[in-house]
Amino acid sequence: MKNIVLTGFMGSGKTTIGKLIAEKLDIELIDTDSEVIKEFGMTIDKIFEVHGEKKFREVETKVIERVSKLENVVISTGGGVVLNPENVKLLRENGVIYFLYASAESILKRLKDDDTRPLLKSGDKLSNIIKLLNMRMPFYKNCDFEINTDILTPELAAEKIISIH
Ligand code: S3P
Repeated sequence: MKNIVLTGFMGSGKTTIGKLIAEKLDIELIDTDSEVIKEFGMTIDKIFEVHGEKKFREVETKVIERVSKLENVVISTGGGVVLNPENVKLLRENGVIYFLYASAESILKRLKDDDTRPLLKSGDKLSNIIKLLNMRMPFYKNCDFEINTDILTPELAAEKIISIH
């Protein structure tokens, strides 16, 4: 089976839906953020603070190079993975890309009390989300299937992806 690759903005449900798919299909879930955390031995927040975003992206791409070679797994990607076209190309070699869409309002609702995302820490959260989401939308749209998580529960989104796959 080709890998199920989940992309989308922070708070779009990649990890939650990824876990459900992995459980239902009894296959492994790879979370690229967790892999980057393991490489650095510190939280994402700390990585950004100590090493900066550029270094984070370099290691993120190394993780993508490694995990894209696997087969028969679910890969939940960090929200910025698709910004590098090379990452998308690699993930597509063995996988089908499912973009989990969520509106800015839903993302705000889901991340209201979250302080683990360095890119949303300073300034007004909603305007940061809107700005980043608009800028990134063309990158997210470069997918094989789009799943609207505003209108589906995580359970139904997982089932939809499994039925498409
Ligand atoms: C990021 C998303 C985060 C994490 C990092 C940067 C982004 O992952 O990789 O904070 O640039 O959108 P999640 O999408 O899993 O929150």
